[in-house]
Formats: sequence, structure tokens, C-alpha cells
Amino acid sequence: MLPGVWKNIRRRKTIFAPEEAGALHRVLGVRDLTVLGIAAIIGGGIFSSVGKACYDGGPAVILLFLICAVACGFAALCYAEFASRIPVAGSAYTYAYASFGELFAWIIGWALLMEYSIGNIYVAFSWSGYFTHLLENLGLKIPEWLCTDYRSAKAAFEAMLQNSKFNAAELAAWNGAPVINGFHIVLDLPALLINAIITWLVFRGVKESRNAGNWMVGLKVAVIILVIVVGVFYVNAENLTPFMPETGFGGVMAGVSAVFFTYIGFDAVSTMAEESRNPQRDLPRGMFYSLLICTVLYILISLVLTGMVPYSQLNVDDPLAMVLNVRGIHWLEYIVSISAVAAMASVLLVFQMGQPRIWMSMSRDGLLPKKFSEVHPKYKTPGFSTIVTGLVVGIPILFTDENFVLDFTSIGTLFAFVLVCGGVLLLPDRAKEKGAFHLPFVPARFSFPFIVFGIAACLFIFLPNYFFSLFNFTPPADALKGMSAAELAEEYSKLATYNISTLIFWASLLCLSVFSLIRNWNLLPLLGVSTCLYLLTGMTAGNWFWFFVWFSLGLCIYFAYGYRKSKLANG
Ligand code: ALA
Repeated sequence: MLPGVWKNIRRRKTIFAPEEAGALHRVLGVRDLTVLGIAAIIGGGIFSSVGKACYDGGPAVILLFLICAVACGFAALCYAEFASRIPVAGSAYTYAYASFGELFAWIIGWALLMEYSIGNIYVAFSWSGYFTHLLENLGLKIPEWLCTDYRSAKAAFEAMLQNSKFNAAELAAWNGAPVINGFHIVLDLPALLINAIITWLVFRGVKESRNAGNWMVGLKVAVIILVIVVGVFYVNAENLTPFMPETGFGGVMAGVSAVFFTYIGFDAVSTMAEESRNPQRDLPRGMFYSLLICTVLYILISLVLTGMVPYSQLNVDDPLAMVLNVRGIHWLEYIVSISAVAAMASVLLVFQMGQPRIWMSMSRDGLLPKKFSEVHPKYKTPGFSTIVTGLVVGIPILFTDENFVLDFTSIGTLFAFVLVCGGVLLLPDRAKEKGAFHLPFVPARFSFPFIVFGIAACLFIFLPNYFFSLFNFTPPADALKGMSAAELAEEYSKLATYNISTLIFWASLLCLSVFSLIRNWNLLPLLGVSTCLYLLTGMTAGNWFWFFVWFSLGLCIYFAYGYRKSKLANG
């Protein structure tokens, strides 16, 4: 029986012609796809989480932006190779089906749910934060219990009972909430409403969504450029020196998650294959142009931010608005707040468009019920999947919080990138096709082991303790002084997770080096796998735990439904 199961879960989809699908409107060109990419990339990250990254890394945070751009660039190259081979909707899911087989495809589709839907929960929360702040500036105050998530309010109340630190606004939400049968009614209403509006827009059709997206993207890019141009005149050179924080490069790396999140989204372009006029040529271009434009904007804006105020002041949720406020540029502060609201709405729009299209592909393959691939007769959009997406984003808004969903999004996305880059390594060669994107072949036989051993040698020479410290699971005594039992446990768990994941990372590099010697793989996807694996070493034990819970749930669903109903299983 087991060999049969093994064979079935590895059944692969052959690369097919795009005509198989063809029910959606083909209206998108390179410009639209680039705009869609920017719409997905610039959002909650650059308006919010970037503050923490600047605080950790000072002006040197630009190095981290470069590193993450390089990692995303390799992943984009692999997406582009797949997108030009398999120009149908579905993103990494479809690609995995062609290279790794059915079970991997299901796993990746399941992981993408985290990037698209769970990521949108984070953005909806951030949107709500900026929106309520904006209303407050206009003199309209929403009661705290209507713009705070339940979990945070409850946590603030419990922290207050235990004499720990708590957020005053969150506690006010708990205390001010109506109580029915002992249950405190606390909910983030703006987050729920924006999700409902976006779901409706996506349901109505890609053309309307595209039009709404275009002006939002124009607005947010213009505002970021405006902040850069105005901010340059307020840069104080003293703030930019020293370039590195006191904590050195380790401090810079502490901002990995926050910076990586700012780049998530360029791959959403690849879900638009069936609405693209010339997917083989345009999807790769759309991804690259959007990634390039955003990298330049991010580097400039982080230099301006860290130049305008000492970076130690930047650990806030609204760094752009805060910096403008501190430097007295209030007219621009208002414009930034308005555009942050628009920026996040455009991110919500793109992900909300991407998710149903992935489900549509999975349903066509028989891994999800048929209903998920039904195209609305009038609007020509995957109507049922769109509504389910709205529910998947909306319902958790009622009982989860920002930090939890942010970590979940990052781990799921990095995992998907690793599988996509790995998938490219297993693809057979193909003949050159005019006008289509081809991933350049750079032989890895000697270059990859050379890079890996070169880096290891440099670490041995310049940081002689680096490898030995990975076997030491006791944090430095100074760092543990005055900590409570819970904090101590967290510190130990952090170190253990870091050490174990870093050791796994080096072991993986060693294995990849051996394989590249034997198989002469392409260096570019190998570097993609390696950089994404490296970023995964930044995840905490809690992130891994929830990731594996999620992962196991996905496996149960696959074996209960998709394994039997798969199109490949039933001819
Ligand atoms: N990169 C997207 C954002 O920053 C997810 O909101």
C-alpha cells in the first residue's frame, strides 16, 4: 500500500497550454502588472514595520534592504522562469505541481494561503490603525472597543492584573466595552469593513479592481517620493554617523522580518497569468520592474528617515508620520497618513485578488471542490473563491492580533520561496523560445561550493567563535540579569531555536554543495534557496510551532479530500 501512496503523492502535472483555462478576461499588460506588483509590495511594511528595522539597524538598515532585495530577486528569477513555462493562474502552487508533484503542490498552495490571506489580516489591522488615527486628526473619535482587536485588549487587561507592561489604549478598549453575559464586545470594526469593501471590489471584476488599484499606487509612490525629496533638506549628517549600530551587523539582522515583509507581494503578479495579455513576456517584467522600483524607494526612504532623526527614536508603528511630526512638517504628515490608508488598501486588493486564483487552480486539479473554480457569469471572476477569501481574512480579524499574523506570513512566504527556487532546479531543460523569459544558466558545480566554503572560511578567520557558539545553548549571564522566569525561558528558547536552525542551515548548504558538484545545477536558484533558508533562521520557536500545526492540518485535509479527488487520480 505504502509504495502506492508514495507514487500517488508524487504524481506531477504535465506542462500544459494556457488555453486550458481561458475563461477570465485578458486585460493586463506590463504596465498593469508592474503597478499590481507595486500595489502588493508597498504597504504596511514601509509605512509601519520599517520603523523597528531602522531602530535595530540604524542607517545600515539599507544593507538589509539590499540583502532582502537580493533574496527576493533570486526568487523572482525563479518565479519568472516558471511563469514563462506555465502561464496559467496559480502562482507557486502550479509551479510546484509541475516540478515536485501533487503533495508538494498542495503544501505550497497551503503555505501561500499564509502569504495572501494571513498577510492580509496584518495589513487590515495596520490599515485600521492609520485610518482611526486619521479620523482622530479630523476630530472623529471611534470608541477604543470598536477599533481594537479582542486578543490585544484581553492581553492588556491580563497584563494589568499581573502588574506587567500593557498598552493603555488596549486596556481602555477592554474596560470601555459593552459586556453581554460576561463577554466583552471588543472588535476592530474598520479592519472588518475594509476587508468587506475590498472583497466586493474583487468580486465585481479585475478591471474595476485594476482601476481602483492604479490611482492608489500612483498616490503612494508619489507621496514616498515627496517624503524623500522634502526629507533630504532635513537630513542631519550627524544622524548618519556612525553608519553601523552599536550592536554591529547582528543588530542590523534583527530587523530581517520587518524588512522582508516590506518586499512580500511581487510574486502576486504571477497569479495574474490568465488575465495577462502576454504572460510569458510580461509577468517576469512586471515582477522585476516592481521589485526594482521598490528597492530604490526603500533604500532612499530609510536613509532619509535615519538621517532626519536619531534612529533610536524610530521604534514606532508610524515612523514616517512620526518623523515628519518631530521635524514640524505637519502638512506632509497629513498627506502621508492619507496615503498610508490608500497604500494599505491597494495591498489588500492585490492579495485578495491573488488568493481566489490559487484556489481556482487547485479546484481545477480536483484538490478542492469544484465550486472554488466557478467563474461568475457576469463579472468573469472566481466569485465563490473570492467570497471564501473574504471570510478567511475577515473571521480571524475577530480573534487574532497583528504580531501573530505577521510572523505567520513571513514563515509561510519564505517556505514558498524555498520550494519555488528548489523546483526550478528540478525542471528539465527547454528549447529557446522567442519573446519568452529564460533563466540564464550559471554552472554551480564549482562556484556554489566555492561560495559556501569561502563564506565559512571568512567566518572562521574574522569571527572565530561563530561556529563554536552554535553549540552553546546558554545565553550570556549579563543578558539574563533581572529577568523573570517567563523571560528567562523565552531567552533560552530564542537561543536554542537560532542555534538549531543555523546548524540546519549550514548542513543544508553542505548537502546543496555536494549535489551541485554531482549534478552541476544552476547557481541562481541555488542562491535563491540559500538566501531564503538563511532568512528562515530568524524565526522563533513559536513561529515554527504554529507553522507545523498549520502544516499538519493541511496534510490531513489533503489526504481526506485531494488525494482521492485529484484529477490525476481519476484520469
Ligand atoms: N509588502 C507588503 C506590505 O508591506 C505585504 O504591506
